[in-house]
Amino acid sequence: MRVAILTISDRSSRGERPDEGGPLIAQIIRETLKWDCSLTQIVPDDLDQIRDVLVEWCDSNRADLILTTGGTGFAPRDVTPEATRSVIEREAPGIPEALRSASLRITQHAMLSRAVAGIRKQTLIINLPGNPKAVRENLDVLIPILPHALGLLKGEAQTESEHRTV
Ligand code: MTE
Repeated sequence: MRVAILTISDRSSRGERPDEGGPLIAQIIRETLKWDCSLTQIVPDDLDQIRDVLVEWCDSNRADLILTTGGTGFAPRDVTPEATRSVIEREAPGIPEALRSASLRITQHAMLSRAVAGIRKQTLIINLPGNPKAVRENLDVLIPILPHALGLLKGEAQTESEHRTV
């Protein structure tokens, strides 16, 4: 599977702060799932720029999964969910529901995540928070379901009902 990682941060895009979330996601995905994470980019908290990268990566079929990091909170410039919602064709609400639910057992601040997930063409897009601790906690929950989710999306995995008849 090909994973693209989009870091969304004004300061990291200007080189004023190192991007910690993006490289951490790549490291964890490579170690656990052994998937390719070579496509990465950093953009500011700007709806059009986020949207343009997501559309380009999905419509050129350059990634099976796009993980975004940052810009999902309540700050005035946090627009990652709006950009994501504007490009997805099918929403996948169960994913952010599960991430928030699991995260709420760790911190009440999980309530402040407005993350969304959904599918555009053959690509699944999932918003993750920005800080490295939150990234780790979200990936702990997300990683076990990713192979089956992407298998279904690509028409390769068995459906649940097929599982039951085997
Ligand atoms: N989820 C987990 N598991 N752990 C965390 O520490 N932080 C929250 C939330 N989700 C957090 C979390 C906080 S403080 C915010 S503001 C939102 O994610 C959004 O983060 P973002 O603006 O960096 O995207």
